[in-house]
Amino acid sequence: MTLNVSGLYKSYGGRHVLTDIHFGIKSGIILGLVGDNGAGKSTLLKCISGAEQFDHGQITIDGVAHSVITPELSRSIGIAMIYQNLDLCPQQDVITNIFLGQEKTIRIFGQNTPFLNRSHMKYLATEVLNRLGLDVDISQNVSLLSGGQQQRIAIARALISHPKILIMDEPTAALGIRESKKLLDMVRNLKMQGIAIIFVSHKIQDIYDVSDRILMMRQGKIITDLNKNDISLAELHKIMMNEEV
Ligand SMILES: Nc1ncnc2c1ncn2[C@@H]1O[C@H](COP(=O)(O)OP(=O)(O)OP(=O)(O)O)[C@@H](O)[C@H]1O
Ligand SMILES: [Mg+2]
Repeated sequence: MTLNVSGLYKSYGGRHVLTDIHFGIKSGIILGLVGDNGAGKSTLLKCISGAEQFDHGQITIDGVAHSVITPELSRSIGIAMIYQNLDLCPQQDVITNIFLGQEKTIRIFGQNTPFLNRSHMKYLATEVLNRLGLDVDISQNVSLLSGGQQQRIAIARALISHPKILIMDEPTAALGIRESKKLLDMVRNLKMQGIAIIFVSHKIQDIYDVSDRILMMRQGKIITDLNKNDISLAELHKIMMNEEV
């Protein structure tokens, strides 16, 4: 799987939020996207997931160029996104949240309406939660879980569709040091399984720890695009703080 973004522009009410964005990603790579609040990170990711429409530019996926990406297209291509606000329904149970919008159904002979296949969903949910090392009761309300656990429910929901590209927007923002470390290990694990990952954070240390390639955004533009091995953490900090390297 390869994904290339070229010449992407997006504005809100005449104000440019993304300007001439170019970058690429492929399977088994973690791309770290870093930048200050308001740099345009979430907007860029939403353009890739189809949650927002871009004004100009192209997104080429496995050699096929698209000038419009809808949520349906992105899902069918194998792109899954975990939003910054997680987008969970806290008053619903774990299993409902994992299958939101992608419920497994069964058609009973002679009936027109498909039924929810709860037992299959239960099996798949338990399997994915085990994979993520999360030991919770799947009939529990999500509102009763910790921030780190809720984060993993959102990841489970993304993984249930077997994505080829996983986009994670600020997954460590609400996590403590130990939970963050666990999450970074989990992300490395997913990469080993051949998933391409876009990992967004304004925490440079997290980005540096986990990424193979690092993009830095400022005011809607990509100002740095480097292999992690070609830059030190200190240099990255300096660029972020707008100092000479
Ligand atoms: N729906 C919207 N309507 C109008 N302006 C928007 C909308 N969404 C984002 N913006 C603006 O676009 C700019 C980029 O926002 P975005 O959320 O992409 O930044 P970000 O890099 O993800 O920031 P953060 O680190 O705070 O999450 C901001 O100035 C924001 O106010
Ligand atoms: Mg954001």
